[in-house]
Amino acid sequence: NNNVDSPASHSLDFKDQNHSVAGSFHKLEGHGELNEQMRMIDLTEADLNLLRRVKPVVEQNIDYIIDQFYNSVLGVNKLEAIILEHSSIDRLKTTLRGHILEIFNGKVDDEYIAKRLMIANIHKKVGLEPKWYLSAFQNLQNVFIRVIYNETNDDNTRLRVVQTVTKLLNLEQQLVLE
Ligand code: HEM
Repeated sequence: NNNVDSPASHSLDFKDQNHSVAGSFHKLEGHGELNEQMRMIDLTEADLNLLRRVKPVVEQNIDYIIDQFYNSVLGVNKLEAIILEHSSIDRLKTTLRGHILEIFNGKVDDEYIAKRLMIANIHKKVGLEPKWYLSAFQNLQNVFIRVIYNETNDDNTRLRVVQTVTKLLNLEQQLVLE
């Protein structure tokens, strides 16, 4: 069905799949405490698989997600000032887009973790306080949940995808607050 007029296509349907399987928590070599954090939020290999399956839908909606994000950030004068002093909106839109799509590669490895710690540092340097960082994450989460709701049509799939995506957003926040 190539009907271009059809609205959001309910293209995700994972209701047949069981959620987290005990014993398959995601682990990384040499990251004792981080592994415990990931276990605590129940981040499993099944979640990482699911992210990869969700990626095309995120790609379809990425402009909307990024626009909503920057509209809310730019609504705060203090944050707009930080951006204009250190970067530009166009530049940040491009980097955030890459950053978000990367989450949906479902590849949480050393490089992924190191990159996020580095980005946390960059934000520290530009003087972004944690309260704004966390507000920005909630905004991102609100938009994600809206998109997931639009793109799914059964409760189990919605629950699964929302749980998975919020786990990854929470992991980002844990790394930032470290
Ligand atoms: C840089 C992500 C929130 C301001 C970046 C970069 C990423 C990123 C991926 C690029 C780092 C690089 O150059 O490699 C995020 C995420 C956020 C967030 C995931 C929260 C969900 C914010 C907020 C502000 C902000 C709320 C508001 C001031 C900046 C600035 C830079 C930057 C100014 C550029 C720093 C520089 O290039 O020197 N951010 N960001 N970010 N972000 Fe954020």
